[in-house]
Amino acid sequence: MYLQRRNRILRKTPAIRAMVAETILTPNDFIVPLFIDEGKGQQHEIPSMPGYYRRSIDGTVKEVKELWSLGIRSVLLFIKCRDELKDNTGREAWNPNGLMQESIRAIKDAVPDIVVMTDVALDPYSSYGHDGIVENGEIVNDPTVEALVKMSLSHADAGADFVAPSDMMDGRIGAIRQALEENGYTQTGIMAYSAKYASCFYGPFRDALDSAPGFGDKKTYQMDYANRIEAIKEAQMDVEEGADIVMVKPALPYLDIIREVKDAVEVPVSAYNISGEYAMIKAAAKMGWINEEKAILETLTSIKRAGADLIATYFAKDAARLLNK
Ligand code: PBG
Repeated sequence: MYLQRRNRILRKTPAIRAMVAETILTPNDFIVPLFIDEGKGQQHEIPSMPGYYRRSIDGTVKEVKELWSLGIRSVLLFIKCRDELKDNTGREAWNPNGLMQESIRAIKDAVPDIVVMTDVALDPYSSYGHDGIVENGEIVNDPTVEALVKMSLSHADAGADFVAPSDMMDGRIGAIRQALEENGYTQTGIMAYSAKYASCFYGPFRDALDSAPGFGDKKTYQMDYANRIEAIKEAQMDVEEGADIVMVKPALPYLDIIREVKDAVEVPVSAYNISGEYAMIKAAAKMGWINEEKAILETLTSIKRAGADLIATYFAKDAARLLNK
């Protein structure tokens, strides 16, 4: 058989494959979500996220040091708010001595060079478990944006490098950017959850923070999974309003959206490989149905190949260890 071109030549050996690989994953690509609890010496495994923990600040700081030593450069903080502190205004979210603010300070103290990002949304603080303030059964946009501005300023004040609004209210990026400027936080970045879909895959996360909505769902603010043009619009608007990084979330069911957003904007794009995506791989691996390590690397590489410059993932530590081998 005479063939002018034989594609298998480039797949012949591991060395050749490594030489021509188009997508290279590194620990620098990862953002590690961390769940933080009150107290000392606390460590709770999240039942729907086996191998993933919610820790008090002391344990979190230890974890961050280890992440840094593995080559990971960024963490994304979430806190679990005590029930007594929850209300409809979410005011605990901008308590200067709140759990989030203390966590930011403790982490920046211990590992000053790590990039600390913080989730900005009211759901962990809301007695309704919604990302915004509720009036007459509705999640009201503009009063919520005012609350998110206060929350962002308090995170910036505590030393956050990036605030990451995950609430999907209209106009919040512009309002946060303006407030950061007006208050002298000219070095604080914004990673906008721009295309955040109303997804069933957030379930395990809501277990981790006890933040499931008390009524209804999040479909009046998070996006409809049937849509793609809307994702581009959201991302472009967030860039215009001052976002430094835009995010697509979830990742795996939305690889097409990651690519389209990447092609449409000129800022880095991140993708969030969310809790349900983690749980699916863990469950299948536990059953012996897939090889966990291979599934992790294939999944994360696919998200990067789709166009993500950064990936928020619960697999970051495992993946960094595998990549460092
Ligand atoms: C809250 C928030 C959610 C996640 C990140 N920030 C859940 C939600 O919108 O209900 C999900 C993360 C995950 O599932 O891993 N605003």
